[in-house]
Amino acid sequence: MHSHNRASIVHQLRYAVRHPTRVVPHLRRLARDTWLRLTTRDHVAYYRAVMKSDTARNPRAAVGSKSQRRWLAMGQMQFDYLVRHGLKPEHRMLEIGCGNLRAGRLFIDYLGPGNYYGIDISPDILIAAQETLVVHGLREKLPHLMPVRDLRFTALPDGAFDVVHAHSVFSHSPLPVIEECFAHIARIMKPGGWFDFTFDRTEGKEHQVLREDFYYRTETLVALAEKHGLHAVFMDDWERLPHRQSKIRVTFPALERPAGHAAEHARPGEADSGPRHDREAGQVLSDLG
Ligand SMILES: C[S@@+](CC[C@H](N)C(=O)[O-])C[C@H]1O[C@@H](n2cnc3c(N)ncnc32)[C@H](O)[C@@H]1O
Repeated sequence: MHSHNRASIVHQLRYAVRHPTRVVPHLRRLARDTWLRLTTRDHVAYYRAVMKSDTARNPRAAVGSKSQRRWLAMGQMQFDYLVRHGLKPEHRMLEIGCGNLRAGRLFIDYLGPGNYYGIDISPDILIAAQETLVVHGLREKLPHLMPVRDLRFTALPDGAFDVVHAHSVFSHSPLPVIEECFAHIARIMKPGGWFDFTFDRTEGKEHQVLREDFYYRTETLVALAEKHGLHAVFMDDWERLPHRQSKIRVTFPALERPAGHAAEHARPGEADSGPRHDREAGQVLSDLG
């Protein structure tokens, strides 16, 4: 969680004094940001260009990991948490902003063949994702990797997914992009499914640094989810992990079946995947605070 407004001049000057070696790289990013703002038509085009430039330098760093050790550890952390919170091998999963499969390689390995779908706005990072598949011997699991222009999920069918996961994606997204996702995600979820995402949390004023990093208050995202009929819960236990972002789990009240209706109509493995996950989440998570 961040309480300072990282976009403020005072914060930036203090930061520059404490970290003089980071001044030149930041100025370089600022120059690139200005150029890309002027030459791209919207946020997605802008961020796709950022990813193209970062991926050309180093795909691992493009998804936020400074070293291979950190890349492996950050993927493992996402995977372990999601398995602890209900992911099963028979689930069908969508990862939004899958990057170069930092966590995706573990999800692909764990899930049944064909059960992993990764989407990303960056074709460059999806090429790097294919290299990860080869290096980690995952071709036989037949994962689906798709470039997208937006988060309307138009190429994905209704009721397809048990689990949707987005790590370090909304930390790079303006509110309209997040809202687009909230407005369309229920259509592709199975009853009892859930959607976990991380975000950069502030308890102060909401702000952004360049056009790459966005800091939101929890209540803003919860209210936005509720506006679209979704139920959002802050994941308290994620805060104990060594990661600076926070996590929210979204469930879909409108998709829940009436009691007694679930077992007879559910597919194998589905009957116990819905309400049970909600109860499990309730045991370890507290409501927003
Ligand atoms: C910081 S990286 C994290 C990648 C991956 N989730 C991980 O944890 O390794 C953010 C990824 O989200 C993608 N992304 C950003 N905005 C997106 C959007 N609106 N829709 C889909 N992908 C997006 C970026 O291209 C990038 O691959």
